[in-house]
Amino acid sequence: MSILSVRDLKISFKLQGAWHPAVNGISFDVERNETVCIVGESGCGKSITALSIMGLLTPAARLEGAIEYNGQNLLEISEKDLEKIRGDKLSMIFQEPMTSLNPVLKIGQQIAEPLIFHKGLSLNDAWKEAKELLELVRIPDASARLNQYPHQLSGGMRQRVMIAIGLACKPDILIADEPTTALDVTIQAQVLALLDEIRKEQDLSIIMITHDLGVVANIADRVAVMYAGDLVEMASVQNLFETPTYPYTQAFLSSIPRADRADKLKPIRGQVPPIYDMPEGCRFSPRCDEATEKCNQKPVLAGKMHQTRCWMRGEV
Ligand SMILES: Nc1ncnc2c1ncn2[C@@H]1O[C@H](COP(=O)(O)OP(=O)(O)OP(=O)(O)O)[C@@H](O)[C@H]1O
Ligand code: SF4
Ligand SMILES: [Mg+2]
Repeated sequence: MSILSVRDLKISFKLQGAWHPAVNGISFDVERNETVCIVGESGCGKSITALSIMGLLTPAARLEGAIEYNGQNLLEISEKDLEKIRGDKLSMIFQEPMTSLNPVLKIGQQIAEPLIFHKGLSLNDAWKEAKELLELVRIPDASARLNQYPHQLSGGMRQRVMIAIGLACKPDILIADEPTTALDVTIQAQVLALLDEIRKEQDLSIIMITHDLGVVANIADRVAVMYAGDLVEMASVQNLFETPTYPYTQAFLSSIPRADRADKLKPIRGQVPPIYDMPEGCRFSPRCDEATEKCNQKPVLAGKMHQTRCWMRGEV
């Protein structure tokens, strides 16, 4: 059984009196010890998908479908039961550690807190564990750092502290929403390598949200590509990079600058439509060079190992 199964998840917002799906019935599984990257253009629904798995989405959103963790549907359990799981078995790290860390609490207190809340550790034991966690995320001089405040650490170190907090209770699943975007490239690579090492050591599953295909190449086992609230392609990282099939993914891959083919750089024309004004059929059709009459009907996600939602592609 997969550690997490997202089934036909639909997330809608009410705008001008009508409900509009910002995530339009997506399904995917995450296996134990696997890293699934969710990629896609800004506004395609990556963050709200992650927040809905954590049960942290605004109550203004309407959720349908199922998010099954260990056989229980997280959309149906009580807030009290969800609180027990959140931060314990499922945890999340965000893009900007400075806004996620509390500026007036010492680093040690912030790492100790989930250990006291979820595991019932004494402050003393939680503090010892916090030191070990700082060592796990390779922060030198851990004892001294425990007594410091977030502003006394570099951006890369703060992100490592966030990872330490996320890992404190030994979660089954760590969701990371653009965790390295605010970091410079070398620090970004170190943080990604660290996450990957910890995943192997701790049998962790990671859902990594990013619009950076460099991050995907570095860390993903499988990749889910989203476009305008639809899951449009899902494949192993190797298959996705070698034989991308969905026209948006192909355009997305060739829109990245690369020193060896600067002349072929192709930006994707147009932009993602707003959720209240989505085309009827394929949501990518206004921007797709291959669109035909048939694309006015909604394509289904077809295939097994390599899935694509496009009328012009069969099973890969
Ligand atoms: N509270 C809200 N009310 C109405 N619409 C919302 C709300 N929150 C998100 N949306 C819409 O849902 C869609 C998906 O948003 P989401 O934040 O998940 O995008 P994203 O893929 O994470 O983008 P980015 O890469 O910019 O972070 C967007 O069109 C956004 O406008
Ligand atoms: S279904 Fe049609 S419009 Fe959509 S991606 Fe395929 S070819 Fe393009
Ligand atoms: Mg986002």
